[in-house]
Amino acid sequence: MTRLKFFLFLLIAIFKSHSVSAEGWPTIELSGIDLTTVKRIQIKEDPVYKTSKEYEAIPLAQVLSRFPEADRAAKDRVVVFTAKDGYSVSMALADAMSEHGYIAFRDTEAPSGQKWLTFKFGKETITPAPFYLVWPKQGLDKWRYPWPFQLASISLQPASTYFGAAAPAKITDDIRTGFNLFSTYCIRCHSVNLSGGQVGPELNVPKNITEYFIEAELAGFILNAPAYRSGTKMPSFEKILDRQQAKAIVTYLKQMKNEKAGTK
Ligand code: HEC
Repeated sequence: MTRLKFFLFLLIAIFKSHSVSAEGWPTIELSGIDLTTVKRIQIKEDPVYKTSKEYEAIPLAQVLSRFPEADRAAKDRVVVFTAKDGYSVSMALADAMSEHGYIAFRDTEAPSGQKWLTFKFGKETITPAPFYLVWPKQGLDKWRYPWPFQLASISLQPASTYFGAAAPAKITDDIRTGFNLFSTYCIRCHSVNLSGGQVGPELNVPKNITEYFIEAELAGFILNAPAYRSGTKMPSFEKILDRQQAKAIVTYLKQMKNEKAGTK
């Protein structure tokens, strides 16, 4: 695989995952949001334009504050960002509220009469219109703080709804920690019980990964797949996760052996 193709594939994993319906859960259509309290924000290194940018934007927390209090206070809710093509990406509600994300709606360098400049996405030339989630603070982890573009709506959903059969039925602290990590870093590429991404292999059915992988090596593989398999398409998580977190993911994956689809 060429570098460019590989980069595109990572981008797709980071920016888009599965297609879901937000029906029935509180949803904010971004086309209807109030753009009067606009701020100009600076981005040091925008991941799609690969340069510094300035946008007109409104704070994400301000948009999220329109969700009913009861939904924001409920446990295990995830914020789901849906693009106009129906693809979506999620993040933890606490992260969405805490790190000062902004919903950008205009690039200040766009020629008059236009809102955005184009960028190359694989073979396509596109813009982030109508809305683009950006994070001015530098150095944030892009898996945890995603940068989805062409956004149409934001919804709040229980993790068990959004992640479907990949969500564990049995919840202990370790399993919850492991599942939260898995849903942040892994599910965009891997499915569990056929729920999740398809870039990497399914990890539970018909055989759970712990039924054929040397279990003691699993945390090491998760942390640094390229140290096990040259040419692997799985990125290293060494700089992002620690061994204890990798072990929590293994605890979650191992639990799912008891919760194979069709046996719950
Ligand atoms: C960008 C996509 C991507 C992400 C993100 C990703 N993986 Fe992978 N993973 C792959 C691919 C592709 C393979 C298999 C082929 C290979 O090695 O290139 C793989 C292989 C694996 C395997 C070995 C399975 C097998 O039978 O070969 C495990 C276990 C695994 N990943 C777990 C995880 C976990 C846990 C996470 C989250 C911390 C994760 N992966 C994140 C793409 C990804």
